[in-house]
Amino acid sequence: MRKLTFRNGDILPALGLGTWKSEPGEVFKAVLEALKVGYRHIDCAYIYGNEKEIGDALQKAFKEDICTREEIFITSKLWNNAHLPVDVEPALKQTLKDLQLDYLDLYLMHWPVAQKPESEFPKSGDDFLGPDHAPIQKTWEAMEKLVGKGLTKHIGVANYNIANLKKLREIASIKPEMNQVELHPRLVQEELVEFCKKHDILMTAYSPLGSKDRASQMKKDDEPDLFELDVIKNIADKYSKTPAQILIAFALNRGISVIPKSTNAGRIKQNLEADAIDLSAEEVKAISKEDKNYRFVDGSFWTQEGSPYTMEDLWG
Ligand code: A2P
Repeated sequence: MRKLTFRNGDILPALGLGTWKSEPGEVFKAVLEALKVGYRHIDCAYIYGNEKEIGDALQKAFKEDICTREEIFITSKLWNNAHLPVDVEPALKQTLKDLQLDYLDLYLMHWPVAQKPESEFPKSGDDFLGPDHAPIQKTWEAMEKLVGKGLTKHIGVANYNIANLKKLREIASIKPEMNQVELHPRLVQEELVEFCKKHDILMTAYSPLGSKDRASQMKKDDEPDLFELDVIKNIADKYSKTPAQILIAFALNRGISVIPKSTNAGRIKQNLEADAIDLSAEEVKAISKEDKNYRFVDGSFWTQEGSPYTMEDLWG
């Protein structure tokens, strides 16, 4: 299995199971199935609302000797309403309780956006704390303390652009080790990937398949279908693989971790098999030409009227 290496030598199995949009009723079976067929990396988050069921699946896997705790890599994410330094450790402890674990392998700040503690999802501009009241640098300092306490082995961020990464790097005693971002042929992220490589920040690609199962209010009418891109279909035919497998291989062949979500046993296995696909440099380049800087997850929730955050803050 392809692996990425943290600065201290710890290993990240590059292909993981995504759990965003995996319903609580389905995720138990999905995680157990994934571990049975050989996944060793599960990507979670408080806001996905399914960490308890994932915890139950992990416990069952440990009991049935499918894997040990040490053999798997578990990521979770700090939600936007727990950015105040005092709220960071309790948020991680809640996640650990739900996942029934003593430590995480990786904890990420989910967005560079701070909401008020009582707001799980912003309904208006009033629900934000904003960068003046909850600067990302202060939250990061609280994240660093979690490593010292042994509650997580690594810390990083998600949805960070270069400017936000720089803000953390300036003050960090533990520099961000991971940046998890949307990444696929329509959002190749060349510049961000270069910056992260240069500064030893690993990357994880979310929505590698285009996240078609997003709630309708998160979708636009004219969204691209990544499975239907000619370059993807042609390479899939050449290797007798599915378009989904080529999309997964696209990230892996760029040295980027990838977390396709599935709750279907057949597709969970199919996606793992993409690990073995070696694309040529020309094929990666040909796929990269599909870039249109297109985001399925455009962050517009965080930039609604009255919000202190703008699209420029997020992606500029
Ligand atoms: P399902 O869970 O029924 O398999 P993303 O990882 O980009 O968020 O995409 C997840 C979506 O892609 C889900 O709708 C998931 O459905 C679907 N999916 C996952 N794996 C495959 C695959 N191998 N082929 C087709 N669709 C897939």
